[in-house]
Amino acid sequence: MIDRRALLAAPLALAACERFAEAQTPARAVPGLKSITPFPVGTCIKSNQIDDPAWVDLAGKHVSQLTPEWEMKMEYILADGLDRPRFDGPDRIAAFAAERGMRLHGHTLIWYAQGEEAFAHLDRARFTAAFDAYIATVAGRYRGKVVSWDVVNEPITDAGDGLRDCHWSRALGQDGYIIRAFERARAADPDAVLFLNDYNLENTPRKGATFLKLVERLMKAGAPIGGIGSQAHLDIEIPAGQIRTFIRNAASLGLPIHISELDASLRSDRRVDLRSREQRLAQQTGRVGELVEAFMALPASQRFAFTVWGLRDTDSWLRQGERDDGQDQPLPFDAGGRPNPMFDAMVAGFTKRA
Ligand code: G3I
Repeated sequence: MIDRRALLAAPLALAACERFAEAQTPARAVPGLKSITPFPVGTCIKSNQIDDPAWVDLAGKHVSQLTPEWEMKMEYILADGLDRPRFDGPDRIAAFAAERGMRLHGHTLIWYAQGEEAFAHLDRARFTAAFDAYIATVAGRYRGKVVSWDVVNEPITDAGDGLRDCHWSRALGQDGYIIRAFERARAADPDAVLFLNDYNLENTPRKGATFLKLVERLMKAGAPIGGIGSQAHLDIEIPAGQIRTFIRNAASLGLPIHISELDASLRSDRRVDLRSREQRLAQQTGRVGELVEAFMALPASQRFAFTVWGLRDTDSWLRQGERDDGQDQPLPFDAGGRPNPMFDAMVAGFTKRA
């Protein structure tokens, strides 16, 4: 009679052995990603990572651009209320980027997911004034420190059938809040490249198409939109070709493109995942390779930057809290900073002769 506990314990024991073996493997010599690309390679940053020498060394070797992962958002800046903005976290990140000669991409001014509580109970006039003042204050504070902003984040519904209904659209109109945000950001910072940013644009073709129709509408309306941000939180089970098709369609608008938040989880939303680890890694490197190849095929003027949403697997939002299964490898490096197969797929794509 096989003991069920032994059966359940076996994979965990195997994973622990794998991790122990990994820890004994010296990191192999690899090129710095930023040294093999003609465009900036970026990663997200939390201010407490500045106190992690291993993270600072890895970031210094591989990236030349940083995106605050959460501290330049309303959830941080307005944590104490609309009238008491706090900037210690984003200021520290901006100073670190400047000291290291790294570009800073601002993320994000207006997002459907944040700000509702801070802006609640304001009548239309005060809401509009507070909306304008927030953008003027934040984009004005980092003028000359950021090269770009995600002015509006995630405006399209998950189904891709239209624009999200949110506190911003209810107060200022669906295209209205977006156009106003871009206009106020341009007024606060005449030089920053202003992006519209969203996710699942490759994974869900209908969403990608709706997003690009919005960008076209904004351009026709004269909004100062300067770039397209595709987050690229890749679903590695999508068919080959979908990523290439979206990037090509996006490129036809003529704007710079920022791959703004790449990660590629090995996990599946399906309850029972029958794929082997090797199969999942092959899917991951296949889709990441397709994304890199599509980005490399863009004209140089449209390759704004290529940003991964974290460097080490354990830095990923996908490895925090209840999401963490202890085994996901969504990023280029493992917990010890050793290259994953995803890193090799990126290097192969970045160095492939045209
Ligand atoms: O670190 C603090 C901790 O000190 C504090 O006690 C705790 C209190 O809630 O907050 C912790 O900060 C958390 C932060 O991540 C750092 O881990 C915030 O609560 C949490 O809200 C924040 O989540 C971020 C999330 O956006 C919401 O801002 C994730 O890190 C970040 O990866 C995620 O990134 C988003 C992009 O902005 C937009 N695209 C999707 C992407 C993934 O969801």
